[in-house]
Amino acid sequence: MSHKKVTKIGVLTSGGDSPGMNAAIRAVVRTGIYHGLEVYGIMRGYAGMLEDDIVLMDTRSVANIIQRGGTILKTARCKEFMTPEGRQKGYDNLKKRGIDGLVVIGGDGSFRGAQIFSHEFDIPCIGLPGTIDKDIAGTDFTIGFDTAVNTAIRAIDKIRDTMEAHDRLFIVEVMGRDAGYIALYSGIGTGAENILIPETKTDMNEIIASLSEKEKRRKLVNLIVVAEGEEFGGAQEVSKVVKEALPKADVRVCILGHIQRGGAPTCQDRLIASHMGYYAVESLLVGRSNVMVGVINNKIHYTPFDKAVKEKQRIGQEWMRIVKILAS
Ligand code: F6P
Repeated sequence: MSHKKVTKIGVLTSGGDSPGMNAAIRAVVRTGIYHGLEVYGIMRGYAGMLEDDIVLMDTRSVANIIQRGGTILKTARCKEFMTPEGRQKGYDNLKKRGIDGLVVIGGDGSFRGAQIFSHEFDIPCIGLPGTIDKDIAGTDFTIGFDTAVNTAIRAIDKIRDTMEAHDRLFIVEVMGRDAGYIALYSGIGTGAENILIPETKTDMNEIIASLSEKEKRRKLVNLIVVAEGEEFGGAQEVSKVVKEALPKADVRVCILGHIQRGGAPTCQDRLIASHMGYYAVESLLVGRSNVMVGVINNKIHYTPFDKAVKEKQRIGQEWMRIVKILAS
């Protein structure tokens, strides 16, 4: 806990954008102003901090954004912030405005930067998990995950229509970086026959055996959802193996890509973003620092940056067993 009282705070979004970031910015700005703080928006993440692209915000500057995807503050990945000189530049720009607290909305890379910065310059930093990947420990959900999964299932449902019409085998690749959560949730939600994720070993021989057994009994419609970080190297690679083993199968690949990052946030993402944003400011006011605000079992939970960054959420084996049973 820090004993210095914060009076002016900065908020930034960093790393890949995620739906709900705007709702979080709105909550931070309005809670800050409610408590009599000055709130500054730092543009393009740490890049804007270094380049002195920092704007004073008021309650109107966050009007009409809760329903919008992307981030009004824009976002970037900033290599210079990884250097001591870069961070010094950033600190000087905060200092000249008297900014004495920071809210960082982003993923693990953004928290790593915040942690070093906070130690070097004694500026309290609070993190909010903003990523579609749900790859951060200390929270049941990250801001944007629910929207991304819902976008994925709507797209896959459409694929299923044409897949059924043509008796095809579809291999759909979803995002998630090194995590398989989007694949797991969207695969279960669309009744996928197979879900391939980085967290579990993929037995391709077993998958081929089951597909060829299905081919024999004329079950030709099959959906395989693949996480981009899966060991085979994505949907294209999986499709090569499947096509080789099952030359008669009518195989198609669809990579959903960045559509998963955009669009209006779901109600759940707006809610958690608002909840977390409010508690980010409350945390700075009571002297917390170097923690990420998460939600576990619907309750606010604080996780030190090191832990949020190092530990990943675990996918229980139970889910994979259920997938197999439901897909038979
Ligand atoms: O972390 C969010 C994410 O969308 C990942 O799922 C994906 O691997 C990556 O970002 C894509 O990054 P970029 O937009 O830089 O291509």
